[in-house]
Amino acid sequence: MKKIVINGGNRLHGSVCISGAKNAAVAIIPAIILSDGVCRIENIPNIMDVNLLVNILHQMGAAVRRIDKSTLEIDPRRINSSFANYDAIRKMRASCYLLGALLGKFSEAEVALPGGCDFGVRPIDQHLKGFSVLGAENSVSGGMIKLKSNGLKGGHVYLDVVSVGATINTMLAAVKAEGKTIIENAAREPHVVDLANFLNSMGADVRGAGTDVIKINGVKHLNGTTYTIIPDQIEAGTYMAAAAATQGDVTLKNVITKHLESITAKLREMGVQVEEYDDCIRVCSEGRLHRCNVKTMPHPGFPTDMQPQIAVLLSVADGTSIVTEGVWDNRFKYIDELKRMGADVSVDGKVAVIQGVDTLKGAPVKATDLRAGAAMIVAGLSAQGTTYIEDTDHIERGYEDVVEKFASLGADIRVVYTDDTVVQRA
Ligand code: EPU
Repeated sequence: MKKIVINGGNRLHGSVCISGAKNAAVAIIPAIILSDGVCRIENIPNIMDVNLLVNILHQMGAAVRRIDKSTLEIDPRRINSSFANYDAIRKMRASCYLLGALLGKFSEAEVALPGGCDFGVRPIDQHLKGFSVLGAENSVSGGMIKLKSNGLKGGHVYLDVVSVGATINTMLAAVKAEGKTIIENAAREPHVVDLANFLNSMGADVRGAGTDVIKINGVKHLNGTTYTIIPDQIEAGTYMAAAAATQGDVTLKNVITKHLESITAKLREMGVQVEEYDDCIRVCSEGRLHRCNVKTMPHPGFPTDMQPQIAVLLSVADGTSIVTEGVWDNRFKYIDELKRMGADVSVDGKVAVIQGVDTLKGAPVKATDLRAGAAMIVAGLSAQGTTYIEDTDHIERGYEDVVEKFASLGADIRVVYTDDTVVQRA
């Protein structure tokens, strides 16, 4: 079995380049299905979720050419079926975007039910609501979701909850629908805006992305395009947290500082020095972190995908902090792992009360999901002694070259198999 092994205590220093945003890439790749031409996508992160989606498109008939590590050219013109039933779909939540994209292209779709991180119930009722307003009926049988319509027509979609996935899926279905679609109570995440910019670069007419009302005038054709994906807000936030946890001095390159504002504000509250420049950010930390309270919310609130990493920082901060999860029902599974490292945390429903301890101590732990795994790395880097992280696949779903990047910042981190053969020392 593969494990990440960390000997904690090294102060991180130097600079690291942030990769393209996972959650933008996993929306943009399915969106390529809607195009009538070749799409060249730059700054694509080389991570498992993205590579699985690219393979799915390839299996569906798209021609895929890798130009270099972070640039792909995808020609979707040979995709001629609205049916997608591949093993990879059941592994990842983002495969549900195939529904919106195939529906938008063919006015019908049949896609395997998506998988993804387990944070409790992950309904798609709001996605189906969006499709239904546009004229698509849905049914589920044999693990497949089926959507059928007699041609999509624009409509007024009011989302009952702010949902990134439902916003994106409705956009995908609506860009080529006849007439105007309005999405109210839309998600405002940077990756929603990036998808809108990508669609517009193909000739779509999407306005208002980044606000809670998105207006889409359907168009008949979408052209090929060249598009550069935004930097990953959460990868950046994770390296910021790691710099703070190790009393380090780290400069993150290729970031959009505006996307990091809620994270920057919390780190400053904790006594961390954050300097913002045009497309980079420097994070320095000395001495003990201060306690604070954090509540996760849809953008521009504090991102739920940074909740585990910030909880690690608070577990070694002065005093008692309260972390409230405002997006998911059950996103504290990793706390049991953190407690193995000596953290003092009690969880009641969606609230974690964290009493800061002097230091975490290395231990064998599991990555219970993607961001929980990232948090275990941050914990391991700051801990005394050795941390062994199992189930590293979760981490590779969303972090490009994570071991190499941390090692380049001075971390003592490597990958081993359970027989303890070192397979990679970056
Ligand atoms: N929800 C519903 N009905 C729906 C859809 C969502 O009730 O039809 C609820 C969910 O149960 C949840 C809330 O709405 O309580 C927000 O869910 P959302 O739809 O926004 O989440 P998602 O689209 O499934 C994306 C990210 C997640 C991130 C959330 C919230 C992708 C591929 N995934 O998920 O990212 O946590 O938005 O920001 O974009 C990650 O990257 O680690 C990750 C899990």
